[in-house]
Amino acid sequence: MAEKTSAAFTQPLRVLIVEDNQIDRRMLESMLSESSSAVSLRKSTDTLQGAIKLLDEYEFDIVVLDMNLPDSEGEDTLVRLSSKYPEVAIVINTGAYEDEMGLHTLSYGAQDFLVKGKYTAYVLNKALHYALERKRLERELTKAYERIKETQAQLLQMEKMKVVGALASGIAHEVKNPLATILYGVTYLRQQLNPADDKVLAALANMKEAIDRANGTVNDLLNFASTPQLDRKLEDLNALIEKSLSLIHHEIEKKHIEVFKKLDQAIPMITIDRNRIEQVLINLMLNAVQAAGEGGKLEFKTYSHALSGAPGDFSFLDKRKFKAGQTVVVCDIEDNGTGIPADSLSKVFDPFFTTKHDMGGVGLGLSVSKSIMESHDGTIFIENRSSGGARARIIFPSDAASL
Ligand SMILES: Nc1ncnc2c1ncn2[C@@H]1O[C@H](COP(=O)(O)OP(=O)(O)O)[C@@H](O)[C@H]1O
Ligand SMILES: [Mg+2]
Repeated sequence: MAEKTSAAFTQPLRVLIVEDNQIDRRMLESMLSESSSAVSLRKSTDTLQGAIKLLDEYEFDIVVLDMNLPDSEGEDTLVRLSSKYPEVAIVINTGAYEDEMGLHTLSYGAQDFLVKGKYTAYVLNKALHYALERKRLERELTKAYERIKETQAQLLQMEKMKVVGALASGIAHEVKNPLATILYGVTYLRQQLNPADDKVLAALANMKEAIDRANGTVNDLLNFASTPQLDRKLEDLNALIEKSLSLIHHEIEKKHIEVFKKLDQAIPMITIDRNRIEQVLINLMLNAVQAAGEGGKLEFKTYSHALSGAPGDFSFLDKRKFKAGQTVVVCDIEDNGTGIPADSLSKVFDPFFTTKHDMGGVGLGLSVSKSIMESHDGTIFIENRSSGGARARIIFPSDAASL
């Protein structure tokens, strides 16, 4: 976990001196050359712009900084350097009358401060090494803090899902039985009244449709709450997309939606539970149809991708689950709809989060899809496209084929 062990005082340093007072600068330079520490790189400049140029060109461990320069004054100098180069340790070189100010600088990202004329070569050397060590600890602390935050968020989410799951399955069972009774009654009336008045028949048909819808929601809830056994077989994702599309063609035609497909026929087969993945695809397709609206456009893409592990290459994937060298099979479902407001992006996978109350949305589609994708060792993302609309992406490890 530790980056490296504590730096010994003899570790060669790469030091940048930023000081506009010539005497002070010479003094620092000569102290650094006489001190016992080997300085492997030493550059000097008298302006902030000069410092930025050198920091861009060379790699330094530490900057000895006078904050009052011809082109930048006071704390601003420090803040600009420490925010632009967070990896570099900074030791402030202040005038004697600025003693209190020196202390202040620590809260602006400096690791230490020295008061001009009050230190020896030995003290300077020690201060630089201490500052470097402090910077290293600071980096580790930040990393550890980020890890803790991430774990805490995951735990909270798991806890939330557990409670919702337990509640949901209880309620679902309570609702399913009366629904079955109502459905039985409607079917019975339909038979008894046949042939009867059209209005009665239409009312019964509406009731039957409402029951089916409620039953669908209850099944979603039960799916969401349980971890069902998967029935995994080798499947062709492209064929499954075509099948899912055909199941919702009614919705697509009703809204005059144009569908574009770029399905790579060379993607490997994947080992999946076809019913479950069909459910994911339909959820995503329906969301896209609802977002795109009348006359909208949908686009489906499939492709496979070998993860290189290079920074920026599918770097949104969890490194614990997806390793470099692995091939993934990806399906993107894009729409040219409204997109997702920034403050909703982190909530769309929460159970019962919906912005479609008025259209009968329940907010389970994405949370169910997420749990299905995770049970397949895959993952799911939603983002806004830069050209407008949203992109849902599901990713499968292709080595699932060898399971
Ligand atoms: N393609 C999309 N475009 C815009 N918003 C979306 C899209 N997909 C999902 N959302 C947002 O995520 C919410 C949750 O989606 P979902 O879990 O499928 O539930 P529901 O569709 O029942 O609302 C939606 O209400 C919507 O606000
Ligand atoms: Mg939905």
